[in-house]
Amino acid sequence: MSSLTDWRKLHGGNFDRQAVLVTGGAGFIGSHLAAALHELGADVTVLDDLSGGGDPAALPKAVHFVKGSILDQPLLQKCTEGRRLVFHQAALGSVPRSIEQPRLYHDVNAVGTLCVLESARLAGVRRVMFAASSSAYGDSPTLPKIETMPTSPRSPYAATKVAGEALLAAYAVSLNLDTVSLRYFNIFGPRQSADNAYAAVIAAFAKAMLSGKRPTIFGDGQQSRDFTYVDNVVHANLLAASHPQPLGGAIINIACGGRISVNQLAREMAQWLRRTDLTPIYAAERAGDVKHSLADLSLAQSTLGYAPIVDFVSGLDATMQWYRSALAAHTQSK
Ligand SMILES: NC(=O)c1ccc[n+]([C@@H]2O[C@H](COP(=O)([O-])OP(=O)(O)OC[C@H]3O[C@@H](n4cnc5c(N)ncnc54)[C@H](O)[C@@H]3O)[C@@H](O)[C@H]2O)c1
Repeated sequence: MSSLTDWRKLHGGNFDRQAVLVTGGAGFIGSHLAAALHELGADVTVLDDLSGGGDPAALPKAVHFVKGSILDQPLLQKCTEGRRLVFHQAALGSVPRSIEQPRLYHDVNAVGTLCVLESARLAGVRRVMFAASSSAYGDSPTLPKIETMPTSPRSPYAATKVAGEALLAAYAVSLNLDTVSLRYFNIFGPRQSADNAYAAVIAAFAKAMLSGKRPTIFGDGQQSRDFTYVDNVVHANLLAASHPQPLGGAIINIACGGRISVNQLAREMAQWLRRTDLTPIYAAERAGDVKHSLADLSLAQSTLGYAPIVDFVSGLDATMQWYRSALAAHTQSK
């Protein structure tokens, strides 16, 4: 598994022989996190039910993969026992699908997070890191988004992520389990799924454009996002996990700190491919989508010493290269 980042250089021996659990570790972000932890000498267990379509074969061989759900409390407890750190990445991730299936999203994302916290508490885990989401901010026009702003979830997905943050804070205050919620902003990179109707925008555009098709934009394309390469979010998780003081349920933005419109993204990807003829097709705006998103990173900087390590352009280049090779491998295997 290749990464743009030399994890040893950044995190030294902080994770040597540490026993860790990554829930959702066969997924996009979780698999990058599991690989970095493995590279850093950690003893990594992944629990994933593969509902997101991830391939555990993509994980390093030494990672212990367990197929199962975070809602299976006895199995989850078994996976958590003896672990020092838990990186909770497992969730259902699509905003539009959460509007169709709110109950399922609540069960997996909110109740599932409660199950992870309860197992961690019983197992005496040192800290739980939670994959929270910038969708918690909703559509307030104020930019950048700062953690002190009120939450305003606009979809069941966002509501489950806010519920998760509240549970993490409550466990830190009342149940003697240290926790931290990292609010991710539009993460992209190699292995992000492009194979479902709800694919994140970069994955969806890459899949369409590499097959010579025009990308579809929902809305006018002026909506903007703080697109963040996956290594940045892995770095933030590692900083949070090795932080010497308790984090007490803190909620912290993790992003790149820049804003790119979806129109601009489509243009940059077309230029990368030298296919400027692949202009976007515009479709109706989707319910629950927010207009603009940009993170304030002051708290991440002051609390964790976080700053992005891979910028948007380098991240997009690595991502496009990966999708191109993945498509070529797929075509050859047919
Ligand atoms: N990708 C983003 O831009 C983004 C932004 C904000 C927050 N997040 C959060 O980051 C985390 C990882 O997201 P991702 O983009 O890697 O998505 P992903 O779908 O690739 O990964 C999620 C993984 O969780 C697994 N999973 C789902 N339900 C499960 C269950 N009941 N038990 C065990 N495993 C289960 C899936 O099989 C999948 O492998 C999620 O919690 C997501 O909500 C992602």
